[in-house]
Amino acid sequence: MMKKFQKYFKRNSCKVDENISPDPSQPATPVEVVSSQSCFSFNKSPIKRRFLLFKSSSINSSMGANNSVKRSQTDIQAYLDQEKVKFLEKIENPIRQNATLEDFELIRTIGTGSFGRVVLVKHRKESIVETIALKVLDRQVVFKMKQVDHTLAEKKILQALSCPFIVKLLYTFKDNSYLYLGLEYAPGGEMFTHLRTSGRYTEEMTRFCAAQIVLAFEYLHHLGVIYRDLKPENLLFASDGYLKMTDFGFAKRVKDRTWTLCGTPEYLAPEIILSRGYNKGVDYWALGVLMYEMSAGYPPFFADQPIQIYEKIVSGRVRFPNHFSVDLKDLLKNLLQVDLTRRFGNLKAGVKDIKEHRWFKDMDFIAMYEKQLPAPFVPRTDKENYEMYDEQPLTVAATERFQKEFADF
Ligand SMILES: Nc1ncnc2c1ncn2[C@@H]1O[C@H](COP(=O)(O)OP(=O)(O)O)[C@@H](O)[C@H]1O
Ligand SMILES: [Mg+2]
Repeated sequence: MMKKFQKYFKRNSCKVDENISPDPSQPATPVEVVSSQSCFSFNKSPIKRRFLLFKSSSINSSMGANNSVKRSQTDIQAYLDQEKVKFLEKIENPIRQNATLEDFELIRTIGTGSFGRVVLVKHRKESIVETIALKVLDRQVVFKMKQVDHTLAEKKILQALSCPFIVKLLYTFKDNSYLYLGLEYAPGGEMFTHLRTSGRYTEEMTRFCAAQIVLAFEYLHHLGVIYRDLKPENLLFASDGYLKMTDFGFAKRVKDRTWTLCGTPEYLAPEIILSRGYNKGVDYWALGVLMYEMSAGYPPFFADQPIQIYEKIVSGRVRFPNHFSVDLKDLLKNLLQVDLTRRFGNLKAGVKDIKEHRWFKDMDFIAMYEKQLPAPFVPRTDKENYEMYDEQPLTVAATERFQKEFADF
């Protein structure tokens, strides 16, 4: 009998550099999940949603199929190369201190994380009509959890990105106690909430979401950035029903390989668990976990204790629900592939192996990138899509905390 999945608990990312035992049969150092699991208060009132039939766009159909594929591949490559130049320029000249807390009116907390909270704010200047999700990081907590480098990278990378499926960083500033990231607000709520409310997604909906993640990863990996924290808790719906990826707390520019153990237990790739050097392949493993979780309503590897989850992950065994289509199962087997020399996304053809897989045969990725496809679900914006949290005042110290450590922020 399969153990029931604890579906209403949000999963914390592990933010430790500790190694897990490379031999899964040996007792491993348990991964310290930093803060206790926050109980997700489940919104029982069902959100009314508008499901539209998803049809693939015929944008390229007037051109010969081969022609359009060839043409668009070249276009995509040229486009990505241009984007990389822009990214590198912004990395060299990052935005700094372009606002202060006084510029904003605080409305309410919409999210809490390991190092602080995310507060919905409005710009005070009447000429600027903007609602912003302000991520507030406590310097002391970041320092204590040894996340200084990750936090500096989060800001530096995010401010340089420009992708339709990634939240934009609009403001960044700091005071004596906190670091602030002013993000484009995604009013539709977390995929986590929607997925738990719906039970599971249709394969059409899974495909609509997965295609956007594929495009976001294609973009990020082209820039040499790996994301490392894909999960429904970090995917938000914009008002148009398209996704916005948030939380770049683990994003990293990686040339060759990296070794840090970080991520969320259910979504960790085997090579992270086995303390091997890893790269972008971990994001494609996580894509497989996400696609499985969207279509099934629960992730492929779960258990009460992280160590039991890790044993399942490295075992190379995955069981699929009966309702998964043949094509979905085939793509998932190639993403949840322990052998890195066989994992889709990580091979010579790169992301092409995924985009051209049968499960995506009707997907027009260019139309998706241009947001020309009807979204299967458009969130209601006349209601709250984020949980309520206890409010706590931001108390700012009289002297600057960890000045040296956060000088680059
Ligand atoms: N741009 C945003 N718009 C709306 N809500 C957001 C935004 N960014 C983050 N949130 C909310 O805040 C939560 C925590 O933010 P996140 O960046 O994921 O922090 P952590 O690194 O602590 O997980 C998210 O899961 C989401 O619910
Ligand atoms: Mg998060």
